Amino acid sequence: MTGPAAERGGAPRELRSSQWYGDGVSSGLRSFSHRARTRQLGYLPEEHLGKPVIAVLNTWSDINPCHSHLRDRAQAVKRGVWQAGGFPLEFPVSTLSETFQKPTPMLYRNLLAMETEELLRSYPVDGAVLLGGCDKTTPALLMGAASVDLPAVFVPAGPMLPGHWRGETLGSGTDMWKYWDDHRAGLIGDCELTELESGLARSPGHCMTMGTASTLTAAAEALGVTVPGASSVPAVDSGHDRMAAASGLRIVDLVRAGRRLSHILTADAFEDAVTTVLGLGGSTNAVIHLIAMAGRAGVRLTLDDFDRIARTVPVLADVRPGGEKYLMEDFHFAGGLPGFLSRITDLLHLDRPTVAHDTLREQLAGARVHDEDVIRPRSNPVAGEGGVAVLRGNLCPDGAVIKHIAAEPRLLRHTGPAVVFDDYRTMQRTIHDPSLGITPDHVLVLRGAGPKGGPGMPEYGMLPIPDYLLKQGVRDMVRISDARMSGTSYGACVLHVAPESYVGGPLALVRTGDPVTLDVPGRTLHLGVDDAELARRRAEWTPPPARYERGYGALYSEQITQADTGCDFAFLARPGVVPDPYAG
Ligand code: FES
Ligand code: MG
Repeated sequence: MTGPAAERGGAPRELRSSQWYGDGVSSGLRSFSHRARTRQLGYLPEEHLGKPVIAVLNTWSDINPCHSHLRDRAQAVKRGVWQAGGFPLEFPVSTLSETFQKPTPMLYRNLLAMETEELLRSYPVDGAVLLGGCDKTTPALLMGAASVDLPAVFVPAGPMLPGHWRGETLGSGTDMWKYWDDHRAGLIGDCELTELESGLARSPGHCMTMGTASTLTAAAEALGVTVPGASSVPAVDSGHDRMAAASGLRIVDLVRAGRRLSHILTADAFEDAVTTVLGLGGSTNAVIHLIAMAGRAGVRLTLDDFDRIARTVPVLADVRPGGEKYLMEDFHFAGGLPGFLSRITDLLHLDRPTVAHDTLREQLAGARVHDEDVIRPRSNPVAGEGGVAVLRGNLCPDGAVIKHIAAEPRLLRHTGPAVVFDDYRTMQRTIHDPSLGITPDHVLVLRGAGPKGGPGMPEYGMLPIPDYLLKQGVRDMVRISDARMSGTSYGACVLHVAPESYVGGPLALVRTGDPVTLDVPGRTLHLGVDDAELARRRAEWTPPPARYERGYGALYSEQITQADTGCDFAFLARPGVVPDPYAG
């Protein structure tokens, strides 16, 4: 934390909350008032005075099925805090439901990060337990907490139970896309789809594929901000309650030891988190979120770091959609993240601290893999190198990403003519029209879907295969956009093209018929149009009008950074002093 609290150093010290509560009448009117109001809450002095105040930030909401159990889990956290001698206070914070929030919860990630930061700063808080898991909630909570730099523990919401339907095991998201395509191809009917509604997501918890939620909670565990093994515990398992209680016990010790997030969120920790998400075959969204989280921790993480690390780490987790077969519950019982990390210790920084141990080495001692089909040995990886590649070229000077392990291999080196859609609605309306003459070799291009243009970079990146091609059995094509893609999606989708078209990136200059070359092994994305012609098109290009004239959207459009730098707000990402509030 910047300001007076930081100047007190990392050793055990006076509690920050004591500035509010004081020490008897001599500490003045304000602390008298704060104590009186705590009596109003029904607490005796001996229940809270002199005890670490632990904020339990809860993203529970009636609208968020991934977090519907978090009301109960907050109670388990509080149980742990009380038993360790702390004083827990629950704070409801904004929920970001991947399913329901439009145009995309990504628009609101930074809002939750701001809310987290400002709540923790403005109240009498000594440490925090953060409850989240549905996609953007994890980075948002950690970005905000890192900016305040108090001791904090993250409690992952945990994956939902595997889905079932007519003898098949279903992955939420992944199988939704698959069966929707089967329906479009005429392979299943309305009846089957109606049955699937009850089978795809059958319990509280976040998506149980290796989508964005599982990827980001695993990243949080790899960073060292959860108790060991926390990230894969199924949401409705009794072990999830125990993990929540353990997190409550742990945070009080962290406050007493003065171990703040900045002790944990080091450059080494972020390298290990990148290694982890790549070795898990995780979501492309992790690229944006980890860059943003690192930025808040004062660590510079770049796209090139992802590409460099991807070349050194094999994919060892066979969890859909990057893997073939398994889901998060299988991963959990195969050893979970500790088991997985035990397979790649030579690629990790083992001497760094976590919230639970002085070193990661200590934390991983005794970690085992119990099922080598799910967490593969190094001699039999799911893929020889990390699942995500970073591309450069005249179409994406500041980079783009592709999850190549989830694409048909024949498309990883491909040249084809572009079919350009200026925005998502036009694409939806026209893509299935056979008169466009789209063939499997065409390259589908969507623009206007980036951080400013989307706005919020919606998950439009897995453009649909035209119905008539789907019926011919075509299931993958090269697709390019400045959008993101759901972590549960798949296909040869080039994403996060930077700079985006809305701000005049080269994607804005592509025309239908232009040849586009994707070369994943060579890490390039090239538009086959010469520089003179591109300069001519640029001179003709006019910036689109502002989408928001007021409100949060206007602030967002003004402050949002591009995908390659994490889509944080410029005024939040920059370093600088924020004074601790004067509580006297
Ligand atoms: Fe919440 Fe997938 S919808 S994690
Ligand atoms: Mg998702």
